Amino acid sequence: MIDAKTKLFSVIGDPIGHSLSPIMHNAVFKGLDLNCAYVAFKVGEAELANAIGGFRALGIGGFNVTTPHKIRVIEFLDEVSEEVELIGACNTVKNDGGELVGYNTDGMGALEALKKTTKVEGKGVLVLGAGGASRAICFQLALEKVGRLTIANRTLGKAEQLAKEISEKTGCNANSSNVSEDGLKGEISEVEMMINTTSVGMHPNIDETLVTSDMMDEHLVVMDIVYNPLETRLLKEAKKAGAKTVDGLGMFVYQGAEALRIWLGIEPPIGLMRGAVLRKLQKIDSKF
Ligand code: ATR
Repeated sequence: MIDAKTKLFSVIGDPIGHSLSPIMHNAVFKGLDLNCAYVAFKVGEAELANAIGGFRALGIGGFNVTTPHKIRVIEFLDEVSEEVELIGACNTVKNDGGELVGYNTDGMGALEALKKTTKVEGKGVLVLGAGGASRAICFQLALEKVGRLTIANRTLGKAEQLAKEISEKTGCNANSSNVSEDGLKGEISEVEMMINTTSVGMHPNIDETLVTSDMMDEHLVVMDIVYNPLETRLLKEAKKAGAKTVDGLGMFVYQGAEALRIWLGIEPPIGLMRGAVLRKLQKIDSKF
């Protein structure tokens, strides 16, 4: 029950109406009988400073940050963790006695999900996309000592810039590519893993994919960070090619679990979190 002592958590972004974070975190608060609540706020670029000032004034416990604020939010924080310093993007903020401290749990969440299926150290990885989520995942892959990292992006300049930054800061062998069919086919034949961090294939554009089955084979592990729908067109194509697949639910749950550890110091109930998100996704799916 919400009362005068309820500790508030939030997610800010734009768009935000389809976020499943409130469902997942409120399920934890209910399941563990914690006097906390989690709400989503649609905050556009022009309102970011005011929103964070409001959070300070209200003494909110912490908040998540999503598109398009993951990079710019840093300038409004009092302190950032080592990984935020490195990655240059933040998705989790804790109010630590009035000080807003930024963390990034995206990369760790993605790697935790991926490592359930495959070892990453020494492997060749192709990452599609060079936005905020890609930054976190690519840096984490570099820290986990992948053998070779290729970043492919529609806007090639962004992939080049990110690859350069990663090589310089971590010493990882990182390079870039475009997302043309021929370019990607060549890159895929050189790697053991591919991760889609773009929004291609996300509801409502569920028939879209950057890669089709004829470009993949059974040696590949394919992960998609899109979790709505759970089985994206890319994952369907990967299965058709005989590749192993990792859907986006694991990353979503693990990044949220890490945020709960940071905010509340609790050991998060992973199964409960996964179940809450899965039930909601199945309800959404049955509407289409
Ligand atoms: P996020 O925080 O989720 O990573 P983002 O920073 O806006 O979101 O990044 C979105 C990524 O998806 C980018 O790499 C974007 O490519 P551009 O840098 O060229 O914009 C990629 N993306 C989005 N829609 C795409 C599409 N239709 N085809 C190819 N790439 C796309």
